[in-house]
Amino acid sequence: MFYAQFTYPHFPRKVYFRAKITNLQSQAIKSISIVGGGNVASHLAKALHDAKLPLKQVLMRNLNKSKFFKDDLNLQVIDDPAKLLPVDLLILAVTDDSLVEVAKWIDPNDSILAHVSGTVPADLLKEYSSHCAVFYPLQTFTQGREINFWQIPFFIQATNQTDLEKLKTLAEQLSETVVTATDEMRRNLHLAAVYVSNFNNALHGIADELLAKAGISFDYLKPLIMETAAKACDLDPVIGQTGPARRNDQSTLALHRRLLTDEKEKLLVYNTITEYILKKYHTE
Ligand SMILES: NC(=O)c1ccc[n+]([C@@H]2O[C@H](COP(=O)([O-])OP(=O)(O)OC[C@H]3O[C@@H](n4cnc5c(N)ncnc54)[C@H](OP(=O)(O)O)[C@@H]3O)[C@@H](O)[C@H]2O)c1
Repeated sequence: MFYAQFTYPHFPRKVYFRAKITNLQSQAIKSISIVGGGNVASHLAKALHDAKLPLKQVLMRNLNKSKFFKDDLNLQVIDDPAKLLPVDLLILAVTDDSLVEVAKWIDPNDSILAHVSGTVPADLLKEYSSHCAVFYPLQTFTQGREINFWQIPFFIQATNQTDLEKLKTLAEQLSETVVTATDEMRRNLHLAAVYVSNFNNALHGIADELLAKAGISFDYLKPLIMETAAKACDLDPVIGQTGPARRNDQSTLALHRRLLTDEKEKLLVYNTITEYILKKYHTE
């Protein structure tokens, strides 16, 4: 109210306040449906449901995966796109490669048609909708895991300013960090995310298999995993690097390679990352 008076002293308070509410209402997305029943679909559905946002339906091609949506979230789940109700926002939480096929499968009407991919261009589906958009949450989602949605940064894009404002208003009810992105920004973030998350997880998998083979519990590594992640958030990773390659301890590197003689794939990964670290820290 104070802001209203300060900015528009000539405006009667009530008139400005009413105009502001009308403007906010016009920016509100009043109905949402999700296509897909996987990791992101389930997390987004839960977040929208918990925030009491107007989630109407979930469309999936395979109703075998509908239990969580129906039983836990009490949502209407359908497998026939003809039963999709017209909504303000249709979120396509399907694999990147299936987006075009899914856009052909459904009729987006006048809905904002938002995909959730880190890499796919915002206008990929422009042939199927004049309201293409992106609603990309930068996090790793696995169905069934609890996640603090409020801390997940959202990167949004839309083909026009009105849709963008609407998406922003929605995203700000789910997350403390909402950024208007570009295709280039999003794909750079996604590439970086593959390194910190997907590759890290694959390396954890290698460690798990090596320890299992030696009959040792993976649990012993957990404090190390936690400290490595905490250190990556607190320090410049270039400064935080430790290990035999960082120290150029050639005898230890040789021993590790001998231990991996029968593990061709794991040895390849070991050598590739070791060479990367040696080059970064030990070339004149
Ligand atoms: N997982 C993450 O951490 C993460 C994070 C941010 C963004 N994303 C993005 O989120 C999107 C979905 O990823 P996700 O991890 O949720 O994948 P997911 O768990 O594999 O789920 C993919 C969903 O797409 C459906 N689908 C695939 N092809 C289809 C088709 N031709 N027609 C209809 N439905 C089809 C699958 O149906 P079926 O179950 O029947 O196969 C499944 O419900 C991707 O764009 C991804 O880049 C993922």
